[in-house]
Amino acid sequence: MKLQKWCAARRAEGRRIALVPTMGYLHEGHLSLIEAAKRRGADEIVVSVFVNPVQFGPNEDYARYPRDEKADLAKCRKAGATAVFFPTPENMYLPGHSVYVNEEDLSRGLCGARRPGHFRGVCTVVAKLFNLAHPNFAVFGQKDFQQAQVIRRMVRDLNFDLEIVVSPIVREPSGLARSSRNTYLSGEERLRALALSMSLRETKLRVAKKGSLRWAAESARIAKSLANAGLRVDYVEAVDAETLSPVKTLRAGNAVLLAVWDGKTRLIDNAVM
Ligand code: PAF
Repeated sequence: MKLQKWCAARRAEGRRIALVPTMGYLHEGHLSLIEAAKRRGADEIVVSVFVNPVQFGPNEDYARYPRDEKADLAKCRKAGATAVFFPTPENMYLPGHSVYVNEEDLSRGLCGARRPGHFRGVCTVVAKLFNLAHPNFAVFGQKDFQQAQVIRRMVRDLNFDLEIVVSPIVREPSGLARSSRNTYLSGEERLRALALSMSLRETKLRVAKKGSLRWAAESARIAKSLANAGLRVDYVEAVDAETLSPVKTLRAGNAVLLAVWDGKTRLIDNAVM
């Protein structure tokens, strides 16, 4: 592929390559990943824009996922990307494609339990992108907390020779975590969605104040405030930030992860205490 050749030539010149994998419809969250790549001293920043069919379930929003190649290209240019990769499903997955990458521990719970096959699709496409770009490092957003941990594990277990950088969540001034899927939300749904970041902020403050919290009581409190706001709770979980195993007592360093349905849109958010 052209990308593979281009990256190989840059590497041969001693250039340091950063990869920023995205599904496009770029927003400030994605641009912050490009910024993070710059700050880390990348000479070349490769942004991939690919709505990966393999990570969507049959009843999910693959067909409807927002796409705007022209705007994405302009945003990448402006943000300082030096290459933008727009593969098609046909050239990423050749006819008869039959090899997948499966992470079998960290991807079992949370979103993995609700979206069967999702992380298999993510790991497969990210492994392919790593093999195409051979980056020195790749930047992912903390918004997809579980994804970042699953990818770190894949890199460790499959001996990919690169570093994973995880960049903080970028929020709208209202607190709503930036996401391409926010475009699905009506005005009323956007307002309801604020309960996600508000609950996380409150819990974080309570942990800071009290030192630790009993998770059973705290998760019930969060679930109630999400439901009161009109959101349908998918999960409210507290985990060890490395192993993603559930914790019974919430302490500094643990992660709280939330997933809800806001109308027909599934939203996720998280915070490390
Ligand atoms: O986080 C995303 O946008 C996607 O899951 C990724 C990492 C680009 C793989 O398709």
